[in-house]
Formats: sequence, C-alpha cells, structure tokens
Amino acid sequence: MNSSLNQINSNYYTLALETSCDETSAAVVLNGRKVLSNIISSQIPVHQKFGGVVPEIASRKHIENVIPVVDEALRQAEVSLKDITAIGVTYGPGLVGALLVGVAAAKALSFASDIPLIGVNHLEGHIFANFLSHSELEPPFMALVVSGGHTSLVYVKDYNNFELVGQTRDDAAGEAFDKVARVMGLPYPGGPYIDQLAAQGNPSAISFPRALSEKGSFEFSFSGLKSAVLNYLNSAAQRGEQINQADVAASFQTAVVDVLVSKALQAAEHYNVNKLVLAGGVAANSMLKNRLESDCTASGIKLYYPSPILCTDNAAMIACRAYYQYQGGKIADLYLNAVPSLKIGQ
Ligand code: KG4
Ligand code: ZN
Repeated sequence: MNSSLNQINSNYYTLALETSCDETSAAVVLNGRKVLSNIISSQIPVHQKFGGVVPEIASRKHIENVIPVVDEALRQAEVSLKDITAIGVTYGPGLVGALLVGVAAAKALSFASDIPLIGVNHLEGHIFANFLSHSELEPPFMALVVSGGHTSLVYVKDYNNFELVGQTRDDAAGEAFDKVARVMGLPYPGGPYIDQLAAQGNPSAISFPRALSEKGSFEFSFSGLKSAVLNYLNSAAQRGEQINQADVAASFQTAVVDVLVSKALQAAEHYNVNKLVLAGGVAANSMLKNRLESDCTASGIKLYYPSPILCTDNAAMIACRAYYQYQGGKIADLYLNAVPSLKIGQ
C-alpha cells in the first residue's frame, strides 16, 4: 500500500505502543475504530513468582519485546511504516521506567519515518477501548474506569473533552482485588481468581464495609474494605478456624461491586446521560458486568463494556485514542516524556 493512495482514500492508519505496566503491546487501527492488529506480549508469568509487578524487570522485558511487537503488529496489519498516519504512545500514568521504553521507541519511529507523534493517557485509552467494541458508540457518556492502579468516574463530553467526576482516595478497586487475593494465597493478578472463587460463595456470608456510600459522593475508598478482609482472615487464622474462601471472595467482591454500581449510576443520572461505559482490567469482572447490566436496564441507561481482550492493557485502545487526538490536532513533539502520575484530561 502506498501513502498517496492512503491519502486519496482518506484511510488513517494509527500505530500505537503500550508499555505502562506489564504488557508490551503494539497495534494498528484503521480510521480509529477498526483493529487490524493488536499484539500483546504479557509479562504476567515473569512477575507471578514475585506476587506482583517488579518495575525494573518490567522495563527490561519491555526493551526486549518492544521492537518485535511493533514488527508483528505491522506484519499482521499488512502495512509498513510508510502507510502509518500517526504514532500513538502511552506516556502515563504508569511505571516510569516501563513508560520510558515505549515513549523512546515511539519517538525514534516518529523521527526516523517523519510520522506525527501522539502522547496518550493510558486511562483515556481504556475508555476508548469501547469505541473499538461498539461501532455505534459516541459521546457524551459517563465512564467508570476500574483498573489495577485507578478507580475513576469520568464524564466524556466529547472525543477530546473530559471531566473527572470522582476517583479513589486510596487503593484502586483492582489493587484491592489483588491484595486480598494475595493474602488468600491466590496467584497474581488476583482479580480473575477472586471472580471465579466468588461464583461458588455466598455474597452475604460476611458483612464487609462500603465506604463513602452517602448519596451524591462520587469519591471511592477501598483501603478500609481491604483491611477489613485482611483482619477477618488474620483473626480466623489466629483462632485456628477454617474459613470458607469462596464466601470471603463473594462477600468482598459484592462490597466492591455495590459501591461501583451505585456511584456509577448516580453519576450518570447526575450528569443526565443515558449511556454508561465500563473500562479497565476490572471491567472483566463477571459480577460487576451482571449487576451493571440489570441496574442500568432498570434505570433506562445503556451499558457498554469492551470485549475481554480490550479490557486488559493493550495498544489498540491507545491507537483509537491517538486517532481522535490526531483529529483534534493534539500532536506531541520529540520532548514528550513519561509522566507516571498523569491525570485524565491533562
Ligand atoms: O487495566 P489493567 O489491565 O491494568 C492496569 O492498568 O492497572 O487492570 C489490571 C487489574 C488487576 O488488578 C486485575 O486483578 C484486575 O484488573 N482484573 C480483575 C478481573 N480481571 C482483571 N478484577 C476483578 N475481576 C476480574 N475478572
Ligand atoms: Zn490499564
């Protein structure tokens, strides 16, 4: 394919890189919405024996993997660098060393091939994963972003206009899942294991706290809940009592889901929008999806969530976000740097 043909047809090929945590990913997306390739090299098996992500190891693995995943993404999409309209890269939030690998690689590709560079916020990318799974979806909508590092409600007014409605004061929802799972002896990352275990448990067996549950509050807090579960497990261990792991998983998960669902629906109603978009790794949680599905239907709100592969960290969502930034003229220069605590809308 040559680039003059590409322009005549108004076809925009966005190449993107994602290296914010423990997946090295590259993708090519056509016209913002059609995934041509989405290569994800996961480091989960490498970090699993440490019970969590080791930042230094993550950076080294990204260095090894970044060029091979870019090559494979271009190969599977059947395009070459000369067909690419813009290069998107996650520059925050995330682990600084991990982010730097993607940013340096994207800058090098952009400079060497004279392709515009777009710096993408990872959390905005998670929200935009929904545009890849739902061709009819358009703003405005309310987004609930629930990942390993973040829990936020974001009012998406337009493709390039966001308002942070509320976020967690302490732990993220995914972080609480992972820490509780770790203490229960489950592998990393613990979210999917708690999800499976909870399906066999009684969700009202143990009463765990729901923080900041007063009406009109759009902030979250999960550290008290996490401590309550850890205290429950420690007290049982001290007394030599056998616990029912499935009941603990189900009761903990219900406490998280109750808060997420109630605040997300209240936020949608408060901002008078009838679309709710779920995003981030915890969007894969079966109970969260089921509860949102039924509560949204009862409230006349249409629920959207990405396909499972687009819930996890991936570069296709970054390419989608980059495409809309490119359309809005939000282009970066070669001074683009990693910003580990980047905020939404910055
Ligand atoms: O978005 P993500 O892949 O990475 C970050 O940007 O943080 O999210 C990873 C988080 C982990 O905490 C993981 O345990 C959680 O998503 N997760 C789940 C499920 N699948 C992944 N949490 C609950 N239930 C799941 N099914
Ligand atoms: Zn993520």
